[in-house]
Amino acid sequence: MRLVQLLVVAACTPAPDGATDASSSSSPPERDWSEVADVVEHRCTGCHSPDRVAPFSMTRWEDVQRTAPAMGVAIETRAMPPWPATDADVHHVGDRRLTDTERSLLLDWIDAGAPAWGDPPRALTAPPAPELTRVDLRLEMPEAYVPQTSPDDIRCFLLELPGSVSGYVVESRIAPGNRSLVHHANFVDFPSDLTEDFRALQDADPEPGWDCNQWQPGARPTLAVWLPGHEVLQLPRGTGLPVEPDAAMLLVVHYWEPAYDGVPDRSAVELMIEDEVQEPLGYVTLRHSSWRNGPVLEKGETTATHAALWDIEDVVRPLTEIDARNGVLVHSVMLHMHDFGDRGRMVRERDGSVLTLLDIDRWDFDWQLDYALQEPVEVLAGDALGVSCTHHSHDGQRVMWGDTTEDEMCNGRFLLGARP
Ligand code: HEC
Repeated sequence: MRLVQLLVVAACTPAPDGATDASSSSSPPERDWSEVADVVEHRCTGCHSPDRVAPFSMTRWEDVQRTAPAMGVAIETRAMPPWPATDADVHHVGDRRLTDTERSLLLDWIDAGAPAWGDPPRALTAPPAPELTRVDLRLEMPEAYVPQTSPDDIRCFLLELPGSVSGYVVESRIAPGNRSLVHHANFVDFPSDLTEDFRALQDADPEPGWDCNQWQPGARPTLAVWLPGHEVLQLPRGTGLPVEPDAAMLLVVHYWEPAYDGVPDRSAVELMIEDEVQEPLGYVTLRHSSWRNGPVLEKGETTATHAALWDIEDVVRPLTEIDARNGVLVHSVMLHMHDFGDRGRMVRERDGSVLTLLDIDRWDFDWQLDYALQEPVEVLAGDALGVSCTHHSHDGQRVMWGDTTEDEMCNGRFLLGARP
């Protein structure tokens, strides 16, 4: 199919100046740009259409034409479509990157002045918004909230369960109440004995929820997440994340107050839950704690790379309840750095040979995606998991490891399950 498209494009390319054949008129034959519409529809309108995550719509030719110069920059720098990962030794689910053919088609079209893709140019539709296969539990913030601090306001809300819930989350989604206000959000469960502590924090704060700015949620796995372009968490078939029985459920929302438009936020969480799954999953986050004593970047240093490997046996048992007797399977990978991040990799090492699970060559703090692997990767006894990060300095100042945005991090999160 791709070959056919290529031939069509090649056949329609105007002949070079002076080489027009005698039978045609002096102006070059019109190129058919209808494929541009197909590519934009396939690659862009899922986010760039009304009520979706992007700030402007690309469903009409006029809108896309107006955006064309910015599109050219975004495509050339690979900022759009947002997918900071480059080729690894594995394939990721839902890879958004443009193929070389799509990329040159869009760039040629922009160079040609973004002409209409037909007469009249057809309007584009968006692929359907992702939804859960089934919603078993919907938990909503008890009251609407207006951010109290600016520009950032990180707020925790205790979501009370209707009764006892147990089992495995197999799909989840956070539905932001006010999309422009919610920068990102996490939904985390905690052991039930923390419920009283959370209620006390909530009661001590006159506004709904409580201030979570100084508080880092514990190491429990996130059951649902909301990041732009990352809406439905759909775990591989037969797998699921265990829910603590009678858990205390917290929604942690990072609000971006400058976007407040008078509409308070009341976000909700939707879960699909199964009683049993074949393969319970757990997250293991490998972080820089072993590097705590040194700086990330020395004063005057422009760039530095830090890498570490962890023996699988040292991390799985202490950090998850996964039965790792036969080894584990990696299902997804996610990297976390702050603003000094440049490049990062996550790997599995076996007998000195490295399998790259994720390779990000232009870190983008706003697009920290969880990359699901098309085929899970085996990790056996004796193998190691590794994370490496390259940071660069903004102004030659020393940068330390730490939690605030002036500090840096290098965390690799692996979603693991037991190998059968
Ligand atoms: C996963 C969602 C998503 C997809 C897919 C996507 N965009 Fe975007 N785009 C955004 C968001 C959100 C922004 C707002 C800025 C940001 O958050 O980076 C944006 C911003 C932009 C901008 C403004 C400049 C910039 O770089 O911020 C351009 C131009 C753009 N997108 C073009 C495109 C094109 C062209 C495509 C398809 C080839 C595309 N986008 C696909 C979500 C998306």
